[in-house]
Amino acid sequence: MRPLAFLPLFSLNAMAAPPPPASPSPTYTPLYAVLPATPNLPPARFSGTAPINNISLWYSLYGAPLPSRNGPKPPKPNLPILLLHGGKISSRWFTHQITHLTSSHPSHPIIALDTRAHGRSTDDPSTPLSYTLFASDAVALLSHLGVPRAAIIGWSDGANTALQMAISHPSYVDRIFAFGANYKPDQLNVTGLMGMPFLADLAGRMESEYKELSSTPEGWESFKKRMDEMQGKLPDWGAKEFGGIKTLFEDAEKAPIVWVVDGAEEEVVMRRVPGEIREMIAGSNLVLLPDVGHFGPLQDPGTFNVMLDRWLERRSRRG
Ligand SMILES: *[C@@H]1O[C@H](CO)[C@@H](O)[C@H](O)[C@H]1NC(C)=O
Ligand SMILES: *[C@@H]1O[C@H](CO)[C@@H](O)[C@H](O)[C@H]1NC(C)=O
Repeated sequence: MRPLAFLPLFSLNAMAAPPPPASPSPTYTPLYAVLPATPNLPPARFSGTAPINNISLWYSLYGAPLPSRNGPKPPKPNLPILLLHGGKISSRWFTHQITHLTSSHPSHPIIALDTRAHGRSTDDPSTPLSYTLFASDAVALLSHLGVPRAAIIGWSDGANTALQMAISHPSYVDRIFAFGANYKPDQLNVTGLMGMPFLADLAGRMESEYKELSSTPEGWESFKKRMDEMQGKLPDWGAKEFGGIKTLFEDAEKAPIVWVVDGAEEEVVMRRVPGEIREMIAGSNLVLLPDVGHFGPLQDPGTFNVMLDRWLERRSRRG
């Protein structure tokens, strides 16, 4: 047989295409290319609203009961866990994490809220939306529930709110797991976002779920506009704000444990961002979850939840 090396290039070009395989070859669909169905929250210990900062903030409780305000203080109360979901969606999107945590960490109270103007929470159109306001709502809810300090899990806008809490309300923050955060408004990966195979599905779900959950379903367009205005300006942090977060090196007792987490295939926020946030918060950690993008908590809850377990079990020297 003539060695391949002697075949002139043009003859390769002239070769007939190989016959198609008898059956289609299996195609590889990576986890980041799929947006699984929006789950429904499990039955809650409590769900309802609290009057917070001129709105009705909707929240639900799972897992262990919160220590009663007037009853005896348990000798070593288990850290309540607070979940902060992403922009234009609701706490439903954290269902797989809530279900997992109630079984992996049954002694921890779990609090999931719908961000102001999102889901079942109401809006106050006279006040612009901001991460400062979202953080102030979250802190007011913790205080309303008699929770002095919590472990905070945030996703996207919720991760930004968690970071805002560490910046402005550090005493409430024992630790944060910030997935898919950004720190400047121009860190959107437009090419990545536009290329998401489920972009239309995502946009459709944001709208239909809003209309299903909100007490003002007709307010979708104005809600979207208010959110776009916020996201066009915020967050606006840098070394100064992040540098103000106490580090474990400075205060092992009170400084928050900070995990900056993202999908290795993150396509909504520029990929350099999590590493940069990590660099600006001394003593924080960087975790990249394999095969998932900005929707990791839904795309691969198994891996996401294992990391949550490790993060919750992490002790600083406060022991
Ligand atoms: C609540 O409403 C009052 C009266 O309109 C206003 O002064 C105050 O700033 C509002 N608070 C918040 C957190 O929006
Ligand atoms: C934007 O997302 C695309 C698709 O996931 C990715 O290939 C690219 O590296 C991302 N760009 C940046 C700047 O992060």
